[in-house]
Amino acid sequence: MARIGVWLIGARGSISAVTVAGHAAMAAGMEPLGLVTERADFAGAGLPALEEFVFGGHEIQGGSLRDRARVILADCGLPLLADHVGEALDAVEARIRPGVVRGGGKQIAALGDDVVEARTDAEAVEKIRRDLDEFQAAVGADRLVVVNLASTEPQPPWQPCFEDADALLAALAGPDPVLPPSSLYACAALLGGDAFVNFTPSLGSRLPALEALALRTGAVHAGSDGKTGETLVKSVLSELFARRNLPVLSWFGQNILGNGDGRVLDDPANKATKIRSKDHLLPKLLGYAPESRVGIDYVGSLGEWKIAWDHIHFQGFLGGRMTMQFVWNGCDSLLAAPLVLDLVRLTAFAQGRGESGVLGALGAFFKDPMGTDEQRLVAQDEALLRWLASPA
Ligand SMILES: NC(=O)c1ccc[n+]([C@@H]2O[C@H](COP(=O)([O-])OP(=O)(O)OC[C@H]3O[C@@H](n4cnc5c(N)ncnc54)[C@H](O)[C@@H]3O)[C@@H](O)[C@H]2O)c1
Repeated sequence: MARIGVWLIGARGSISAVTVAGHAAMAAGMEPLGLVTERADFAGAGLPALEEFVFGGHEIQGGSLRDRARVILADCGLPLLADHVGEALDAVEARIRPGVVRGGGKQIAALGDDVVEARTDAEAVEKIRRDLDEFQAAVGADRLVVVNLASTEPQPPWQPCFEDADALLAALAGPDPVLPPSSLYACAALLGGDAFVNFTPSLGSRLPALEALALRTGAVHAGSDGKTGETLVKSVLSELFARRNLPVLSWFGQNILGNGDGRVLDDPANKATKIRSKDHLLPKLLGYAPESRVGIDYVGSLGEWKIAWDHIHFQGFLGGRMTMQFVWNGCDSLLAAPLVLDLVRLTAFAQGRGESGVLGALGAFFKDPMGTDEQRLVAQDEALLRWLASPA
């Protein structure tokens, strides 16, 4: 059986812990609920088996993956699971290496008690690359998929802009940070021809020079910002209003969440990155920009739970005004982890088919998809199935 190395950035975070624990639980016989690639439509497509995955990763906070998984899974109503799959969590723990925070802003720097110092971005990329190579050799992986599950970074105060991949690589040698950490990880992965998936709204591989690098090294990449909760519902509901010709006057959404992600998003600079990713799709879906607002607030007592309340004010026949409201109560990491496993499977499949560059066909998984303008969930899902069936 082939081995696919899955390298998680933010490896002791909530999503990583649930991804590793969930993967082990399914190997022990739990049903693969919530995985898109387990639908009948995907059977026979030749996707890699979940058993092929072997995990490692980078992290900047200490602690242990098993302890982290215990707390999160207990919060999600699964108090015994972390210890049932404890061996698998401990095996991954032994493969976690210190990450880089250079260029990531003050919130990320403050989190880090286990970081690698790098004098230049080039040194940081080299270090990340070395860790990836050592991991691949140690576990005997045929290929690697790097998944960014780290805390959301602020948008860089500068606009990283390079003529091409060579100009970007040359700029990394200078003493000042040029790229945020998510892009340093992306650069290291793509440089070695490995796949990069950005599950966060951070910059990651969203730069023309990194796309050029991917095409040069024959790497695939995809992103950004997993579509797991409020935005998922939004991307279905807004089509309803568009198709029935019911003009939306305003769409107000408020999210409250209590986990580590929420704590980082409490900082206005980090929050702005997330809000941009969540708020930009309505004009694309509706064809006009209604009055809209997305709020995100940290409420510590909620732990792993995220609650979204959306109020939609719309007009009907003869201008009559009506409203719709919904409340989404989600256990954040249980929504995200199956999508991470799907994305690894699909990017590894693309690698196996010899594809390179951005994978727009994976847009259904993201709030702010790269390589496609399509935002409607059903159309995105159909595009995914067409891509799967298309010859390499
Ligand atoms: N949960 C969801 O449904 C969902 C959906 C879409 C996107 N996301 C994004 O996924 C990311 C992870 O979410 P989470 O709930 O697991 O958060 P978390 O806070 O539990 O985990 C993030 C981890 O990343 C680590 N980290 C931060 N910067 C790092 C760096 N430079 N290098 C290595 N590790 C680093 C942190 O120490 C932390 O352990 C966030 O950016 C979040 O916005 C989550």
